[in-house]
Amino acid sequence: MNLKLTKQMTEKPKLKIALISLHGLIRGENMELGKDEDTGGQTRYVIELARALSEREDVERVDLITRQIIDDRVSDDYAQLEEQIADKAYIIRIPFGPRRYLRKSKLWPYMEMFVDQCLNRFQRTRTVPDIIHGHYADAGYGGGQLARLLGIPFVFTGHSLGRVKKMRLLESGVSEAKLEKNYSISQRIEAEEFALETCSLICTSTHQEVKEQYEIYENYIPERMEVIPPGVDLGSFKPPHADDPVPKIKQVIDRFLDDPDKPMIVAMARPDERKNLEKLVEVYGESPQLQRAANLVLIMGSREDIRDMPSGQRTVLKNVLTLIDVYDLYGKVSYPKQHDSNEVPALYRLITQSRGVFVNAAMTEPFGLTLLEAAASGCPIVATYDGGPSDIISNCHNGLLVDPFDGKQIEQALMRVLLEKEQWDLWSKAGLENVYTHYSWERHAQRYLRDLHEILAGQEEVPKIAHGRKTRRLPQIDRLIIADIDNTLTGNDEEMHRFFDLIAGAQDNIGFGIATGRRYEEVIKLMEEYDMPHPEVLITSVGTEIYYGKSFTLDTSWKKHIDFRWEPEKIHKVLGGIDGLFIQEGYEQSPYKISYEMDKSICPSVAKIRRIMRENKIRAKVISSLGMFLDIIPSRAGSGLSIRHMAYKWGFPLENILIAGDSGNDEEMLSGNTLGVVVGNYSPELEKLRKYPRVYFAEAHHATGILEGIEYYNFLDTITIPNEKIEEDG
Ligand code: GLC
Ligand code: MG
Repeated sequence: MNLKLTKQMTEKPKLKIALISLHGLIRGENMELGKDEDTGGQTRYVIELARALSEREDVERVDLITRQIIDDRVSDDYAQLEEQIADKAYIIRIPFGPRRYLRKSKLWPYMEMFVDQCLNRFQRTRTVPDIIHGHYADAGYGGGQLARLLGIPFVFTGHSLGRVKKMRLLESGVSEAKLEKNYSISQRIEAEEFALETCSLICTSTHQEVKEQYEIYENYIPERMEVIPPGVDLGSFKPPHADDPVPKIKQVIDRFLDDPDKPMIVAMARPDERKNLEKLVEVYGESPQLQRAANLVLIMGSREDIRDMPSGQRTVLKNVLTLIDVYDLYGKVSYPKQHDSNEVPALYRLITQSRGVFVNAAMTEPFGLTLLEAAASGCPIVATYDGGPSDIISNCHNGLLVDPFDGKQIEQALMRVLLEKEQWDLWSKAGLENVYTHYSWERHAQRYLRDLHEILAGQEEVPKIAHGRKTRRLPQIDRLIIADIDNTLTGNDEEMHRFFDLIAGAQDNIGFGIATGRRYEEVIKLMEEYDMPHPEVLITSVGTEIYYGKSFTLDTSWKKHIDFRWEPEKIHKVLGGIDGLFIQEGYEQSPYKISYEMDKSICPSVAKIRRIMRENKIRAKVISSLGMFLDIIPSRAGSGLSIRHMAYKWGFPLENILIAGDSGNDEEMLSGNTLGVVVGNYSPELEKLRKYPRVYFAEAHHATGILEGIEYYNFLDTITIPNEKIEEDG
């Protein structure tokens, strides 16, 4: 026993890791890198990370979660719900939003759907990850929400950041309006701030990224930053060997060239303005000596028809083609229309064989993975000094840094690499050796997991205890007792605390929830005042807001759902004129609840009020309580609907939810397939529930009534519904 315990304590737990990367085309084999601007470095990064992590002993399983795409324009592979990519690694594709392929900036409206679909899947498969790692702003938002809802740690990698993009584009003269329209930039930045605020760890690739990118965020917290550079796939990228077969791509390149045996200057990048490809052609075009020394090879993704390409890429390509013509570089520049991404490793080897150079002169380069692949293939590099490459060169010593805006410097650097034979050999050798020491996925995985274990260990030390009750994580509960506050929980302090003691002592699978007409802020105050335990679910303002978990994470999909046809101004206008209705204090009002007090001796009946609203074409729910309160809420909201939403979201069967209330605003939640308990001191509006099979009218008042109801349904043991005994079969 003791032995087992120590073993358990020293042995690290095996982790279930969920990586989320939502945009682009992701599959395990034959990745279509460069096919569009959303399918690039990040796509490969997450696939390789998933594989590398899954190879570790201390990892049970890695799921790479992405979007399911059903679209004739892309391969069927992206419609498969599951794809195994290594022994313990899978791609999981979650359907959300339209089925067709969408650009990343168009995903925002569907993010809440994504969150709910994931929860649903976790529930169905009974696998909740130990940690979630979101990649890029979209998954930073969705993954951050999930991690908060599930009460598990969150890791974030921005890959590229919205604030930086915004600054750069504003500088280059793009208007704010265009930034919003084309890139949904504020939504992206907001999502990034949320991710930074939520996460326990930010995984970055370079020091420059931390300094110049993350530091400009409001939620920048230096202690959370870790620089863990990604690895290179050293199995694929390796130096040439005398027996290498001639790859197909050689022909594809050579058919442009007069003298294919010359060394190659190769640039490989999407035709994106930032990549500075036009500059490179210009430098080459201006330099007869470069043209004598080498051919220029531009691998700019694969294209079908330039005329159908996104306008940014189209412009770059047209400029490149124009420059080739202007400088009359025919026979010297090769720019294949298509290539197979599986052939890229062979391409690097060709550069090395030709004693050429790989160049990346981007205006700025966040990391520079291609430079590492070149290094791993024994090919010296010339790289932009802006961004990740300066880390790479200082670790690998395999070439030269240049100012991407200084054409002369680019030319001189290229000439040096091409002409200084001994130096070429030294750079080639240094790159090969150092890339292995500094940039292997194995090392990445090792450092990454060390950090994860630390985070997880830190988390376990602080269970939140309120009123002697440990807050449960939502995935661990499967039964829930939800109570109204005023006159249900409250009314008899001693009995209320007897109820709290009962749920504090109950098993870990029993959750506690509050559903009230009051506002969130008021509830938080009351919870302190009465020393209430922390609820796992908190429903406030008459079923218009739902919060979950330790940090009361707002259910944003609920908020979105109920917003439908909600016109508060119109309601104020119409009801404001009715005699005998008095608007309640400001602190009682909330975004989706407008509350009045009624003087019944003056004001029209509730039925009449409903009619007035209908006549004015207002669609909203009207709820009266205790004969004196009148709440107007969106037609999709309400205590009952909110509970159904919550139950569906988390996969709780309705018969595992017990609900206790006393007045009109509780009616909706008491009356469904859940197990209702009306406390003895109920208000007459609830009389009509008498006939309902799943509503129990307790004799006892207030919290004692709840306790009576719990016993009635045998709720903490094997649940029984006395009126439906016959249907039960154990
Ligand atoms: C609570 C709220 C109040 C609401 C009433 C009925 O007392 O504070 O605003 O009208 O419940 O739902
Ligand atoms: Mg009440």
